[in-house]
Amino acid sequence: MPNVVFHRNGQTFHGEIKENTNLVVRAGIRQFPHPNFLYGCGMGKCGKCAALIIKGAEHLPEPNWKEKKRLGARIEAGYRLACQLWLTHDLELSQEATPLADVVAAGKVG
Ligand code: FES
Repeated sequence: MPNVVFHRNGQTFHGEIKENTNLVVRAGIRQFPHPNFLYGCGMGKCGKCAALIIKGAEHLPEPNWKEKKRLGARIEAGYRLACQLWLTHDLELSQEATPLADVVAAGKVG
């Protein structure tokens, strides 16, 4: 089962999840990484779930059109939309209050 390491607000959270699980779906049913995970629509539109992938990006599928539309060039910087990812391998990601996360969360890009 994949192990997830998640960083936010200067804290680090660890969780083990079932294979082929989505972190936004889990947070929506109050399982890890709830209550610390930032998300909104769950449909690749709002960008609130944007996260910097620190480790494990090589196991993720190629970004889909929603991620490309919302994140643009920031995909090359390592960002993904967590709501679009179904995890099959270990992953480390961050939703620290970076300038990008703030801008995306405010809906000022995309
Ligand atoms: S939760 Fe809205 S884009 Fe992922």
